Amino acid sequence: MQNSRPLANQTAIVTGASSGIGKACAIALGAAGANVVLDFVGDAAGAEEAAAQIRLAGRQAITVLCDVSQEDQVVAMFQKTVATFGTVDILINNAGLQKDSPFVDMTVAQWDLVLNVNLKGQFLCAREAIREFIRRGSRPDVSVALGKIICMSSVHEIIPWAGHANYAASKGGVDLLMKSIAQEHGHLKIRVNSIAPGAIKTPINHDAWATPTAEQNLLKLIPYKRIGVPEDIGKLAVFLCSDDSDYIHGETIFIDGGMALYPGFEDNG
Ligand code: BGC
Repeated sequence: MQNSRPLANQTAIVTGASSGIGKACAIALGAAGANVVLDFVGDAAGAEEAAAQIRLAGRQAITVLCDVSQEDQVVAMFQKTVATFGTVDILINNAGLQKDSPFVDMTVAQWDLVLNVNLKGQFLCAREAIREFIRRGSRPDVSVALGKIICMSSVHEIIPWAGHANYAASKGGVDLLMKSIAQEHGHLKIRVNSIAPGAIKTPINHDAWATPTAEQNLLKLIPYKRIGVPEDIGKLAVFLCSDDSDYIHGETIFIDGGMALYPGFEDNG
């Protein structure tokens, strides 16, 4: 029988956990047995709601206000996690945003904000996580790996995206950040992978699916003809954090209904 609590006795930090993919990952990790630290910036109520669900499922959860692009706040979040739960075993490096603009009109502020949260934030959180994994040392009774990191990427780590150069650049950066960290720390049994979602129904892309016309247009880009839901990503995150995936390292798993399959060629070319 499959272990229904594959993450028991582990602690996970999920950044950007107040809505969308982060919230679903936090709830799924809690259901899989982990205690969860839910990071948020704006929406305290969203993070609290997810924390309440996790507590209902019998695990512990705390919410932490932390802007992942600020080094002192990230360090403080890890300190609070260690003070509360003793250590951290899992990082879901999820916090991310879009500030879309035609390239010629893109401001430095739009560029900096997206790169600071989506890329620098993942660097800062991964660095603190790895420092803590090494400090704590292995616990073979809990997990084969010393620690696990999931970097939330996007299909746009490989699909160029007009009008979103800052976002696509940040996700392209996440790809080689993840792989470089994985290469550097594999010998320590620190497992690092990326999840690359396609179109998932969340607030970040609300306009792309909120009306029937928008939804039909979006479905043209998805060979499997379904827009994803955050729970799709939560299930994959649990698997990638569990020992069931212990030999998956330095990989990006695309979870996109086939969006990265050049759907324009379905009936053309
Ligand atoms: C973006 C969404 C978009 C999806 C597919 C994601 O990374 O954040 O806005 O719908 O990629 O294009």
